[in-house]
Amino acid sequence: MFYGLSKFLKSLLPKQLFYRGLLIVALPIIILQITISIVFFDSLWIKTNVGMTRALVGEIKTFIDSYNREGADQNFVENIFEEHLEINVVYFQNKEFSDPMNEKWYSPIDRSLRRELKSKNLEYWFDTSKFKGTVNLKIKNENDYFEFFIPRDRLTSASVRIFALWITFPAILIVAIAIIFLKNQTRPIKKLAEASKKFGRGENIEEFVPSGASEIRQAGYEFENMRKRILRHLNQRSEMLSGISHDLRTPLTRMKLQLALIKDKNLIDRFSNDIDEMEKMLNEYLQFSSESNKEQSEEFEFNELIQIIIKKFDNDIIKFNRGDKFLFNGRKLSIQRCLTNIIENATKFSNKIEINFQKLKNNILIYIEDNGPGIPIHERENVLKPFYKIDKSRSEKSSSIGLGLSISSDIIRSHGGKIEFGDSNFGGLKVIISLPF
Ligand SMILES: Nc1ncnc2c1ncn2[C@@H]1O[C@H](COP(=O)(O)OP(=O)(O)OP(=O)(O)O)[C@@H](O)[C@H]1O
Ligand SMILES: [Mg+2]
Repeated sequence: MFYGLSKFLKSLLPKQLFYRGLLIVALPIIILQITISIVFFDSLWIKTNVGMTRALVGEIKTFIDSYNREGADQNFVENIFEEHLEINVVYFQNKEFSDPMNEKWYSPIDRSLRRELKSKNLEYWFDTSKFKGTVNLKIKNENDYFEFFIPRDRLTSASVRIFALWITFPAILIVAIAIIFLKNQTRPIKKLAEASKKFGRGENIEEFVPSGASEIRQAGYEFENMRKRILRHLNQRSEMLSGISHDLRTPLTRMKLQLALIKDKNLIDRFSNDIDEMEKMLNEYLQFSSESNKEQSEEFEFNELIQIIIKKFDNDIIKFNRGDKFLFNGRKLSIQRCLTNIIENATKFSNKIEINFQKLKNNILIYIEDNGPGIPIHERENVLKPFYKIDKSRSEKSSSIGLGLSISSDIIRSHGGKIEFGDSNFGGLKVIISLPF
């Protein structure tokens, strides 16, 4: 039960650090304000109002009783009442209240005035908002009535607005300061997240300069160290491999020349086939490492790129279902190379190919399906390894090295994505490429 509750609360909480921080600062302020306002409103303001109203109604009742007393000097009573209590009185003889009463249910002044007048058993009519600063009250006196004009501040204390202002203004100020500080605190985290995302996708990023609080700075510093280490490692790897590939070409050429000296024709054929294959491997690898090293990210429309690749194959067995227009930021030539490899494989093994492009919330998916023999589940991991070919009989059809899928997977992974295999609807292989953006 508690798990469900905490899950529900978590779903209500804002997801971003900035809004969470703001909530931590603003929530206690808001709760404090509401509490203070309720306490002030109830125990101070309303109670004071009730006290003042009660005193006023008491005075009015005293006035009416003195006025009605037998033998009373009515003029004198009215005068001292007006003079000392600052309340104007007009007496209307043989008259009824003409207007209907306009009591506002939401006004605490109206409410306490009604209660007090009722408790003194007076027949009344009042309007607290007709005149600004003055309350108009009529009290029945047998067939006549008194009309009183009472200063509003006899009924209520005017400090409520000032109080409300004084309590809200500092709160707004505190929240505003908190917003500025929080923005400054979350910016370096966002910057770090952005840099990590770009680096993870294989984009080139400039040197990361750590900023912000010391913990965030530390994380940024460690990220930068890690980035440099990975880059150094990658460069070292490809430099070494391309060095080896390069150096091997010389002895290979030498071997080719030496072949001429061999007499056995059969042997020459076998040797030269092997040497050709080795040369192809080296060339392929050299081309890949030099391309991927220097290429920069750029923006391109994905559907267009797929269309261009298909055109190059110049056959009508490939069907492409375009997806939504999508501008992707990545190394265009490498991606072109990867898609070409995969489509080329499909053309080798099948005569029906279908390509679909789909854009999701955070990534794009490219499906390449064919009606060939497919790849058995236990081989799917292996075919991504360099120089791995499933069986000789398959690859003998055409010259193949076994580097295509491994290079493709390398390219996709360096963009932060992955290649997966499934079963096609046409009975062959389904290659699923997903790339984040
Ligand atoms: N569409 C496919 N249908 C069936 N098998 C496939 C398909 N694509 C690849 N394979 C198998 O996976 C193996 C590895 O493919 P990969 O592209 O890496 O190498 P290759 O095509 O043999 O050589 P290269 O592409 O370097 O010229 C292939 O030898 C092939 O047996
Ligand atoms: Mg291939």
